[in-house]
Amino acid sequence: MFLELILALTIIILAFVYWNGKYNERYWRKRGVKFYKKNKVLGVFWDFLTKDKSLSEHLHNIYKQYPNEPAIAFGTLLTPSLYIRDVTNIQYVLTTNFNAFSHRGLEANENDLLANNILFMNGKKWQLVRKSMTPLFTSTKLKSMYYIMEKSAQDFVGYLKENPNLKKGNTFNNLSTFCSAAICGAVFGVTTESIFNSPFLKMSQNALKQTFARTFNFTIASLSIPLFKLLNISLFKEFEPFFIGAIKQTLRQRESENVKKHDFADMCLSIQSKGTLKDSESGVELEPTDELLAAQAFFFFLAGVEPTASAMFATLVELGRHPETLQRLHNEIDEAFEMNDNKLSFDVVVGMKYLDMAMSESMRLHPPVGFLTRMCVEDTVLPVGNIKVSKGTKIFTPIFEIHHDPKYYPDPESFKPERFLRENQNSISDVLYQAFGKGNRICIGQRYAQLQAKTGLIYLLRNFTIKTHITKEGIKYKKDQIALRLANVDVEFVPRT
Ligand code: HEM
Repeated sequence: MFLELILALTIIILAFVYWNGKYNERYWRKRGVKFYKKNKVLGVFWDFLTKDKSLSEHLHNIYKQYPNEPAIAFGTLLTPSLYIRDVTNIQYVLTTNFNAFSHRGLEANENDLLANNILFMNGKKWQLVRKSMTPLFTSTKLKSMYYIMEKSAQDFVGYLKENPNLKKGNTFNNLSTFCSAAICGAVFGVTTESIFNSPFLKMSQNALKQTFARTFNFTIASLSIPLFKLLNISLFKEFEPFFIGAIKQTLRQRESENVKKHDFADMCLSIQSKGTLKDSESGVELEPTDELLAAQAFFFFLAGVEPTASAMFATLVELGRHPETLQRLHNEIDEAFEMNDNKLSFDVVVGMKYLDMAMSESMRLHPPVGFLTRMCVEDTVLPVGNIKVSKGTKIFTPIFEIHHDPKYYPDPESFKPERFLRENQNSISDVLYQAFGKGNRICIGQRYAQLQAKTGLIYLLRNFTIKTHITKEGIKYKKDQIALRLANVDVEFVPRT
């Protein structure tokens, strides 16, 4: 009986695979779009599940395989999926026709409280929350938060000096400890000492660790929203008691203290004091509960640690490989300290042009996020290739591939910060640089992340010079669904004389 059941199940699965593969292929043939045939049911996700590479690298293979196609389709079970290659079409999706592609292509389940954040939200709810969080990232607000990052950076240099072993390597992890201390200060307020051995760092590292279960859950989330909902998958359930508890405690304490620290906790109280969030046009309403605000802080935490540490690490790796650039940056940093009585400020950091160019170029070569996703919410037609896209189609757009395409960046594998000189900027048209995404859903924390990363880099380079060590196999990227994390490379800090 058991064997018969297994046999029947196998036949049903095989029949579904055969039918679904044919269906996907026919669907896109009718629309005149080339179809990636290697796995007609799971497309690029099959490559990701079976090989030790990041998803972004598999997309890059498709990009190179179809150099003349404006878009390539691949199977993702029953959801039509399109990988857009042409820059005009990319611009159409991310900016020109944002209304038709305002959805991120991901949706969280209702009981997954910490996934109820801007990244996963869509529609009017996304608009309401994004609007209420935007004031945290204005220049004025960042200026008032600069002291938090500076303190974390100064304490981090002291921490490295006290622990000589940390200078020798494992630098990505060490940078994560700095980032976690800084974002901890920005969310919960600074204390007298930055905390480098924090439970929040462990939480953010665990939340993004590539375990089998997490890879499976994110793959289902990307392949099919209905299936993800049906299986009622939670992504961050295990972190709820710790993180929501910490936010609740901070907010209640701050209410009773009645002091302004210019951090996220202050902003939460101000939002809560104004009551229900309302969209007058649609009538959509949202209560700014502790849980809703904790979910935003939770994602800020993850983003403040992993991609921000990646951006810093990529910059240090490239500086260590290019001594002339490193020397120029050392000079810029030393001059800034000397001209400002050894006291930096938000304006001084933002004004460091060469640092900005070196970091932008490092993030061009190694963008912490390799591609973007959207979902079509209104039937439309992509301008190049006249491709009909129906509501419900999942869209993937390249970041890494554009950043490495010689058509847009001549000699793309070379590290050249001069590409980002103001006078050379015309050639880097707006849509070609996407380290922080593009359009209305562009990274809300871009300026915060840049300030945190730059402040950390400035204090590190004021005190240390660096050596980059690459293994014989050469630089690679780790297997990861979203992030592009460098592997086979490390950075050593050497005290400056
Ligand atoms: C160097 C560090 C970072 C990088 C490279 C990065 C990159 C990105 C990218 C590529 C996106 C997708 C944008 C799009 O779809 O067009 C994104 C979205 C987002 N990022 Fe970041 N990010 C970084 C740091 C941060 C930080 C520190 C925060 C918060 C404090 C943050 C908050 C967000 C949020 C909330 C979204 C979702 C925006 C939306 O859907 O409206 N990010 N980020």
